[in-house]
Amino acid sequence: MSNVKGKVIVITGASSGLGLVAAREFAKLGAKVVVGARRLDRLNELVKELGQPEATAVKVDVTKREQVENLVQTALDIYGRIDVLVNNAGYMPLSYMEKCKVDEWDATIDINIKGVLYGVAAIIPVFKKQKSGQIINVSSVAGHNVLMGGAVYSASKYAVRAISEGLRQELKPYNVRVLNVSPGATESDLLQGITDEDINSRLANIQRVPATVFSDALIFAVNQPENVDINEIIFRPTSSVI
Ligand SMILES: NC(=O)c1ccc[n+]([C@@H]2O[C@H](COP(=O)([O-])OP(=O)(O)OC[C@H]3O[C@@H](n4cnc5c(N)ncnc54)[C@H](OP(=O)(O)O)[C@@H]3O)[C@@H](O)[C@H]2O)c1
Repeated sequence: MSNVKGKVIVITGASSGLGLVAAREFAKLGAKVVVGARRLDRLNELVKELGQPEATAVKVDVTKREQVENLVQTALDIYGRIDVLVNNAGYMPLSYMEKCKVDEWDATIDINIKGVLYGVAAIIPVFKKQKSGQIINVSSVAGHNVLMGGAVYSASKYAVRAISEGLRQELKPYNVRVLNVSPGATESDLLQGITDEDINSRLANIQRVPATVFSDALIFAVNQPENVDINEIIFRPTSSVI
């Protein structure tokens, strides 16, 4: 994993689930990780586990543009460069449309789409200047298929895929790599965002893969030589049809 060691990797949504495990696995391979989320206590625990200065915690709400800019600037101030930004923070309050949970729709769009865009806006000037970098956006199998109860979440994850594809094409002149990763059901706290009891009971017993499947996918992409750009990864439990 020689192309992971020493890299500076900024990860949003690292206080639980996929982001936390990715930060841990990257750090094990010698990367320096800057972990962001709203729950600073959880981030501080992770930094304690990984050690300083190898890991740094930054409190960030990705719906606040200036806080995302602060996350990127803090990483630059401490490590002098950024090699990878993982736009991972996300929210999945699945619900049937007829229940009109408009506040949850708003939050889904703010976190899953605008949060990614704020990350992109903060990192592009850095990568243009460096003439290198890698953006990893976390979409979902829900960004490839729409299930009942998942319309707004799917809309947000289709948007992430579209943003990734646009970035992939446009950032070529700056030697920037772009990966869109689409996990299927994976162990994390994501289901806790669901307030629609009809959906909760439907999902109670679904099979999920361990979060290390996600971190392995990211490590594979980051570890490639600089002239290799892995653009799409999709994975799901073997038992999942969609
Ligand atoms: N697990 C799956 O099956 C699955 C499948 C497909 C895609 N995904 C995607 O994977 C990503 C990670 O989710 P997960 O499964 O690991 O769920 P999770 O355990 O619930 O983690 C979500 C993370 O996002 C952070 N977050 C949420 N809102 C935020 C905000 N406004 N600002 C900053 N951070 C915020 C949370 O931290 P704080 O609450 O501390 O801010 C937490 O660290 C998401 O984009 C999700 O859509 C997951």
